[in-house]
Amino acid sequence: MKHILGKILENIELTEKHFLLTVKVKAKIPDVVPGQFVMVMIDDKKVFLRRPFTLYKVGEDTISIMYKVRGFGTNLLSRMKKGREISLLGPLGRGFALRNRDLYVIVAGGIGIAGVNLLIERMKGRFQIFYGTSSSKGLALIRNLISHDPIIATMDGSFGYKGDIISCLSQHIHYFSGVDFEILACGPKDMYVSLKNVLVTYRVPCQVLWEEKMGCGMGLCFGCAVKTENAEHPMKRVCLEGPVFDLWDLSL
Ligand SMILES: Cc1cc2nc3c(=O)[nH]c(=O)nc-3n(C[C@H](O)[C@H](O)[C@H](O)COP(=O)(O)OP(=O)(O)OC[C@H]3O[C@@H](n4cnc5c(N)ncnc54)[C@H](O)[C@@H]3O)c2cc1C
Ligand code: FES
Repeated sequence: MKHILGKILENIELTEKHFLLTVKVKAKIPDVVPGQFVMVMIDDKKVFLRRPFTLYKVGEDTISIMYKVRGFGTNLLSRMKKGREISLLGPLGRGFALRNRDLYVIVAGGIGIAGVNLLIERMKGRFQIFYGTSSSKGLALIRNLISHDPIIATMDGSFGYKGDIISCLSQHIHYFSGVDFEILACGPKDMYVSLKNVLVTYRVPCQVLWEEKMGCGMGLCFGCAVKTENAEHPMKRVCLEGPVFDLWDLSL
């Protein structure tokens, strides 16, 4: 973990609510595992805590995050302009672990695509992306991934499968039977509940990136603890033991 100082290179509006922020950093960027995150300082008297965001892209001297405007902090962040100084803490947490499977199935819901973009960039073997969004406007978040032929679901049916991404996945999962595959997912909690329900009959290995409200981001305050199915460790800290967890370990 490192304190990283930099200047905003660009803060591009992708949709009304989604932005891609790129920061040019001054020092060497430590090695990053996809799924790790940074705590971003939003320089305003009213924003006390840093905000956690997954590393979306890492260049030689640049770091990008893709974010959705949800509340006060992200609203301020979306108005920060090129040239402004910014402080990041990271990389933090435990990212995705790859185990040489024959196939990886990557499932992202909405802004969850930000959590798996770096993973997709670094994938070496076979993979299939499933991306769910509320409408075709959400396609703006995956322009860079179209060449990977993602399977797309929209809730309003304006593009691809009509419905949520987990019911879409459930229609396709039989194609993977007999293949050594694993699911890597990032999305809202409801998506993980549905995912667990669909996978329960198949008991497929599955890692998920879990979001929880955070205080310190480095294991000290226990503000991010989640319940697990593990009797020895019934609570785990998302910032330290996560944010990537085995779906079967989490108590949903
Ligand atoms: C490990 C991790 C990675 C994340 N990666 C991304 C990402 O790549 N892109 C993205 O858009 N969002 C991501 N989030 C969620 C993001 O941190 C929140 O949307 C953001 O903190 C909201 O801040 P706010 O001030 O706008 O919201 P407010 O509601 O005003 O914030 C109040 C407090 O709640 C916390 N909070 C609010 N919503 C969330 C949330 N969904 N998850 C965690 N904390 C929350 C804030 O950090 C803050 O401490 C991630 C969260 C975690 C834990
Ligand atoms: S945010 Fe403080 S322990 Fe995780």
